[in-house]
Amino acid sequence: MNSRPVLKIENLRTFFYSKGKRAFVRSVDGVNLRIGKGETLGIVGESGSGKSVTALSIMGLVPGEPGVIIGKIGLKTDNIQKNLLQDLRDYVKINMSTGRIMEVYKDNVGWQKNVDRVMQGIRGTEIAMIFQNPKLALNPFIPIGKQITESIRINTPIKKRSQARERAMYWLAKVKMDSPRLRYYNNPYGLSGGMCQRAMIAMALSSDPSLLIADEPTTGLDATIQSKIVDLLADLKSSVGVTTMLISHDINVIKALSDNVAVMYGGTLLEHGPVGIILSAEHQAKHPYTAALLESIPREKHIREKGYLQAIKGDVLDTINIPLGCRFYSRCDKVTEKIQEKCDNHEPDLREISSGHSLRCWLYYE
Ligand SMILES: Nc1ncnc2c1ncn2[C@@H]1O[C@H](COP(=O)(O)OP(=O)(O)OP(=O)(O)O)[C@@H](O)[C@H]1O
Ligand code: SF4
Ligand SMILES: [Mg+2]
Repeated sequence: MNSRPVLKIENLRTFFYSKGKRAFVRSVDGVNLRIGKGETLGIVGESGSGKSVTALSIMGLVPGEPGVIIGKIGLKTDNIQKNLLQDLRDYVKINMSTGRIMEVYKDNVGWQKNVDRVMQGIRGTEIAMIFQNPKLALNPFIPIGKQITESIRINTPIKKRSQARERAMYWLAKVKMDSPRLRYYNNPYGLSGGMCQRAMIAMALSSDPSLLIADEPTTGLDATIQSKIVDLLADLKSSVGVTTMLISHDINVIKALSDNVAVMYGGTLLEHGPVGIILSAEHQAKHPYTAALLESIPREKHIREKGYLQAIKGDVLDTINIPLGCRFYSRCDKVTEKIQEKCDNHEPDLREISSGHSLRCWLYYE
C-alpha cells in the first residue's frame, strides 16, 4: 500500500471483565492494521470475532466499567495527528503475570472524561460511523433533513441554517433519495429501513469525514434493498472516495466494495491483504479459515453439487480461553502431521507471504 495511513492500529487489545466467569473476554486481542487514504478496508469474520468491538474501540465507545483498551490507535488526517489511546494509560493499571492479565484497576470517571476530551472534534467530524440499524441511530420523530442540517452545523464550518439546509438537500440527492426536497421533511418513523440507511449515509458523509466506519451497513435490510445500498456505496466510493473501514460478515459485500481485506477470528487477524488475492476462489494460497469462509458462502453451485450448504464446522472461539497454539486449530481441516505439534502449541505470527499479503498459519512458514 503506497498511500499514507489515515488509521494505523497497533497491537490493539480490548477486554471485558466477565464477573460471572471471573475472567477477561478478549474481544480484540492484538490487532494491527492500517487504512491508506482513499482506501476501503473490509473486515470480515464470523459473529463474535471482534469486528464491532474494534470499531467501537476506535470511536471511543467501548462501554465504561469493564472495558479495557490497550495499544495504539493512530489517526492522521489533514487536521489531526494523534494516538487516540495516548492518555488513557494514566487511568488504568494492569497487573500481568507471564503474559496474562491478573488484575485491572481503572478510574472509570477519569477514563470516560479523557475519552470524551480526546474524541471531541473527532467523533462525527473526523470519523463518522454508520450502523446496522439506522432507525436506532436517528431520532424517529425529527425530520431526516433537519437532523442532517443540525449535524452539518455541529460538525462542519457551515453554521448558517439556510446554507446547512442546502447542503443537507445536496447529500439527500447524492445518496439517491427519491424526491430529496420532499423527503427532507419526513420523519424516520415513517420511512423504510433502506431510506433510513440512505439518510444515515448522507448524515455521515455530510461532515466530510476523514474516515468512515460502516458496521454491517446492509445487514437487516431485505435482499433487494441490500443490493441497492451496496450499489450506492460503490457509487459513493468512486465519487466521494472517503477512506472507509467496512465491517460485514457478508463476503459478497466486502468483495464488492473493498480494496483490502482483513479476516478476523477470535479477536485477532488471521489474514490481511488485497481483496483480489484473499477473496478470490482461484487464488490457492490462503488461510484455512478464509478458505472455509469462502466455502460457506451460500452459492447455488455448492448446494447443487454437495446437496447441502456448508458451514464451518465447530464453534467460534471462546475468547476467555485462548489456546496456546493456533486459534483456529480445533476447527481446521488442513493440519498436517508435520506441523501438528506447532499448530497445537504455538500461535503463528502474522507474516507476509507475498507483497502486501500476510497470514497466520504454519502451513506457509516452512
Ligand atoms: N460489552 C461487552 N461486554 C462483554 N463482552 C462483550 C461486550 N461487547 C462484545 N463482547 C464480546 O466480544 C466478542 C466480540 O464481539 P463483537 O460484537 O465485536 O463481534 P462481531 O465480530 O462484531 O460479531 P457480529 O458479526 O455478530 O456483529 C463477543 O464474544 C462478544 O460477546
Ligand atoms: S496454523 Fe495449523 S491449525 Fe492454524 S490454520 Fe494453519 S494449519 Fe490450521
Ligand atoms: Mg458486529
